[in-house]
Amino acid sequence: MNKFAALALLCGCLLGCQENEGNTNVRDYSEHFSVLPEVASFPKDNPYSIEKAKLGEFLFWDPILSGAENVACASCHHPDFGWADGRAFSIGADGVGLGPERFGFAITPIHSPTVANTAFNGLENNTDLDAFVAGPYFWDLRAASLEAQSLGPIANEIEMRGKHISQEDIFPLIESRLTNIQAYQALFKDAFPEHTEITIDLVAKALATYQRTLTANNSRFDQFIAGDTTALTSEEVAGLNTFIDAGCVRCHGGPMLSDNLIHESQPVLQGLPAVRTPSLRNVSATAPYMHTGERDTLRSAIDIYEGRDDLEVSFGDDQISNLEAFLRTLDTPELSKTIPDYVPSGLSIGGDIN
Ligand code: HEC
Ligand code: HEC
Repeated sequence: MNKFAALALLCGCLLGCQENEGNTNVRDYSEHFSVLPEVASFPKDNPYSIEKAKLGEFLFWDPILSGAENVACASCHHPDFGWADGRAFSIGADGVGLGPERFGFAITPIHSPTVANTAFNGLENNTDLDAFVAGPYFWDLRAASLEAQSLGPIANEIEMRGKHISQEDIFPLIESRLTNIQAYQALFKDAFPEHTEITIDLVAKALATYQRTLTANNSRFDQFIAGDTTALTSEEVAGLNTFIDAGCVRCHGGPMLSDNLIHESQPVLQGLPAVRTPSLRNVSATAPYMHTGERDTLRSAIDIYEGRDDLEVSFGDDQISNLEAFLRTLDTPELSKTIPDYVPSGLSIGGDIN
């Protein structure tokens, strides 16, 4: 054997050995997880169209949907904060600024979750997407669909309506505002050619359609589950295995890493109402954590489980680090960051966030 062949063999072995070392702990994960579909399923009574998604995008970013024309959905669900708002509790109707810098007195009693991938809320392992109906929504699961959900914040005094418009008046007011803007008339006509009037139900349908396009699959975790065992490092695989062995997967399983069911609060949050398991997809982008936003970092959110008697292990530092490393493999680089250049009302894009 000449020295080049020997070198080639050595290199091959080193690469091979390294890969093997990383993969000796790889198991069959199919009973716990499946990959996220590439696109959402759309309900039969609100099918996708590009025009509807575009209209929904404008509406999501346009503060015209708020009582004082100063708050948009995007004020609290912004791509800079993983489509959440980076705050423990959100500031709505009288707020100015974005994320941790936002200031105001209308404060929500609960933490804003991301809207990314919510098209898949409730999805279970290997569900047939054609038969799948997404939902329910909110921390207490009170809204059955994204359509139903989207009218909640508009009617809510703290979030968007404000003190000065009554609950009875807000929807008719928004309908008449939109009807008086020619650009919106044209956009609604293109999105809903069979309707002659702009109604709040069409607003809800367009918002839901846009949010169903805010999906992001193909994280390294998805690549790994799809069969590319090199997509995760050995540390991340160890974290994944701990995630299963410790029992995290009981609630954070399936393609969304959530059973979308309500569970008792964590012991340290005791006394607070039980809430729905949040998805862990793109979790590193949406600090702070828990429905109270009381955990500032991902690591401290994992720490909450230390010593819990319904989980099978007590974590050492290494295990917490591995769990964190694993959770970061759920990041998707292609999570949309697109912000429209203008909104048809001419108001501030995303509300008073600058
Ligand atoms: C003032 C901040 C604020 C504004 C403005 C706001 N939201 Fe939210 N959003 C929240 C909070 C807080 C929650 C959690 C509420 C709860 O669960 O009770 C939430 C929950 C949601 C959810 C549920 C996600 C899930 O997985 O259950 C969706 C979807 C959503 N909002 C979309 C919207 C849309 C669409 C708009 C505009 C019409 C909007 N939001 C306006 C703060 C806001
Ligand atoms: C019994 C069900 C259950 C188990 C088991 C479980 N979780 Fe959770 N997880 C939840 C619920 C419910 C919440 C929301 C709690 C709250 O907001 O008060 C949550 C929240 C989280 C969050 C914060 C997510 C966010 O966006 O705010 C992380 C991170 C997390 N869990 C990781 C884990 C890890 C790691 C394990 C295993 C050590 C685990 N969970 C075990 C149900 C569970």
